[in-house]
Amino acid sequence: MAITGVSQFGKEYCTKNMTPGKKVYDEKIIRRSGGEFRVWDPTKSKLGAAIYKGLRNVPIFNGMKILYLGISTGTTASHLSDIIGADGLIYGVEFSSRSVRDLVPLSKKRKNIIPILGDARTPENWTHLIEKVDLIYEDVAQPDQSDILIRNAKIFLKKGGSVMIAIKARSINVATNPMEIFANERKKLETYFTISDAINLNPLEKDHIFFVAKVK
Ligand SMILES: C[S@@+](CC[C@H](N)C(=O)[O-])C[C@H]1O[C@@H](n2cnc3c(N)ncnc32)[C@H](O)[C@@H]1O
Repeated sequence: MAITGVSQFGKEYCTKNMTPGKKVYDEKIIRRSGGEFRVWDPTKSKLGAAIYKGLRNVPIFNGMKILYLGISTGTTASHLSDIIGADGLIYGVEFSSRSVRDLVPLSKKRKNIIPILGDARTPENWTHLIEKVDLIYEDVAQPDQSDILIRNAKIFLKKGGSVMIAIKARSINVATNPMEIFANERKKLETYFTISDAINLNPLEKDHIFFVAKVK
């Protein structure tokens, strides 16, 4: 199954660069007659790792609106930005002002990324800045990451919308077996979502799982 907006050249997965000639995180570039493609480095992006590990049901399409919780400096978001194109929009929430400072120049080159300096735990503080979205992507590496996703989905997710979340076991508990943590988080998420895919990201991202889901 092909993933919308993602091309495969040999073993590498790529997105078509919406800003040709400009790299984002020193990724490899492949030039073809169809244009310039940015290789999606699976060691630097959890969605990239999930795709390399076989995820094919990736709910992304041209023109979609995304709420990205924990956008950091925009590595993964840059590939989403390529896929959703000029008609799409990524609202990128990040609470580290240092990361947002690095994200701002990227958002000037890629007009479909809107940086929001804010805490994903308190969406009430930035509700006025965003509209309802087709997808929430979360990668915050926090102990309450599943609760944060549910809270945001209740406010911002359109009917029929999807979520993707990367869960880092060690952010929840360093002493508990990651498989037990993944099962607990799955149970929490299933109170509100139906999970369609669960990809263990080992060894690309140790002790991480990646879930794709929809509201029940
Ligand atoms: C693992 S990094 C994200 C990497 C990014 N998703 C990527 O693939 O390019 C986690 C990010 O979440 C941010 N973060 C953690 N807790 C947060 C919160 N409560 N609200 C907003 N951002 C948060 C951190 O500052 C950090 O930049």
